Amino acid sequence: MANIVCIGAGHVGGPTMAVIAKHCPEHRVTVLDINEARIAAWQSDNLPIYEPGLDEIVRATRGKNLFFSTDINRNIAEADIIFVSVNTPTKTFGQGAGKASDLQFVEKTARQILENSTSSKIVVEKSTLPVRTAEAIERILNSSGNGLHFDVVSNPEFLAEGTAITDMENPNRVLIGARETHSGQKAIETIMDIYAHWVPRKRIITTNLWSSELSKLAANAFLAQRISSINALSALCEKTEADVNEVAHAIGLDERIGSRFLRASVGFGGSCFKKDILNLVYLCEHYGLNEVGAYWEQVVKINDYQQSRFVSNMISSMFNTIAGKHITIFGAAFKANTGDTRESPALAVCRALLEEQAEVVMTDPHALENAARDLGELADRVRFEPDPYAAAKNAHAVAILTEWSDYVDLDYQQVYRSMIKPAFIFDGRNILDHAQLFALGFNVYAIGKPALTHFANKQPHLEL
Ligand code: NAD
Ligand code: UGA
Repeated sequence: MANIVCIGAGHVGGPTMAVIAKHCPEHRVTVLDINEARIAAWQSDNLPIYEPGLDEIVRATRGKNLFFSTDINRNIAEADIIFVSVNTPTKTFGQGAGKASDLQFVEKTARQILENSTSSKIVVEKSTLPVRTAEAIERILNSSGNGLHFDVVSNPEFLAEGTAITDMENPNRVLIGARETHSGQKAIETIMDIYAHWVPRKRIITTNLWSSELSKLAANAFLAQRISSINALSALCEKTEADVNEVAHAIGLDERIGSRFLRASVGFGGSCFKKDILNLVYLCEHYGLNEVGAYWEQVVKINDYQQSRFVSNMISSMFNTIAGKHITIFGAAFKANTGDTRESPALAVCRALLEEQAEVVMTDPHALENAARDLGELADRVRFEPDPYAAAKNAHAVAILTEWSDYVDLDYQQVYRSMIKPAFIFDGRNILDHAQLFALGFNVYAIGKPALTHFANKQPHLEL
């Protein structure tokens, strides 16, 4: 039996440890956090994050071999294996502000582990970190000459929000990196044994420490790059009457390209893509690889462009003014099946609409509380309405910003009837049946598709 603890009870720490506890009943798993309210929520019936399948696993394991606590020092002392899953946001101050990773939480954790350890331990980097962070953690942990030995292992997490449990239960791969020393390789074996409880051995891959750390940043950069690539093409589609969905389908059938992650949208959001790419850019610049940094930075720039382009399209379609107009935003979460609103395009669009003095109503099945928190003072100017029909009543326009299936199944005839005419719908996720909406009377604007409007004069095309 091993005593496993995880420092950081967030979107990664909570779900990953719950799944480990489920599959390793002989191990004791304790998830720790400085945030008392968060720990109290993990101990309650109202978990702090919404994730399909999570409630069931927590209910089955909590109090048996899964525990949540704020007593970090005591649990560190008793641990054999410590996962570090604290947040690593973009630095907002000093050198590297706006790009580099803010490693203060990771460093504090390393010092706290050192101060409270009376036995040797394996420390696992679960947080996403700049390549070579393990070296700094090792230096801190091995700085006291207390005779204890710490092995630092990189085990980045690839789960996506909204599918965290299925991603953990059935991962494409588990990646474990460590020093190529005898004790580093033993540490790899120990972590591998945990995952081998439910992941086939051939899907657990091992690398050196730096490859593991860098692979995490690289994976997110490649995923985000695909979205920016298709979104960049969506802009050209809108000018040429090509349909981005048809283009994505046509290119995705090439097995070398593949069909996934080619959904054009108002842009990617979430707490990680932007911060991880900017971190990669910062690392490249740090090593003097400015062209490489500029290459990856363009992925973020296209994403920003896609969001501002969406708002510009709204304004120009609605006769160049939206001041005083009632605009309803369908969806606040950065993607479906999560309540998370961090870096959500919905909030970026909301801020831009408020800037134009529109009157914004926002609806979402799970994310309104987080949206209000993230909008800060601006939240006072937004009406939050959980019922989409009530939210759309008397609206000049509806904008779909999260791909919740709830919005596909609405009665759009009812929505149309309750709106001010001409009624506009902007589908930032391309999830609706645009021809049907047009037939109902809507003026329909989608991503990367010709607009379907009831107005006479259309934009001229390329004049040859
Ligand atoms: P989060 O903000 O949801 O959770 C982090 C938690 O760490 C917070 O509850 C915070 O209170 C706690 N914390 C910070 N400092 C602490 C300390 N000194 N002691 C104890 N607790 C402390 O973050 P997250 O989304 O879970 O992400 C964690 C890491 O995992 C990040 O590096 C992120 O890039 C990475 N990651 C996230 C996802 C995701 O889907 N969210 C997926 C893969 C990897
Ligand atoms: C992403 C990665 O998919 C995970 O592998 C990774 O572990 C995680 O980041 C992380 O490091 O935090 P996540 O951000 O939770 O996961 O969600 P994704 O499914 O990747 O979606 C990210 C954003 O891209 C969402 O806003 C989504 O709507 C958007 N997206 C996704 C598109 O616009 N088009 C697509 O084709 C796919």
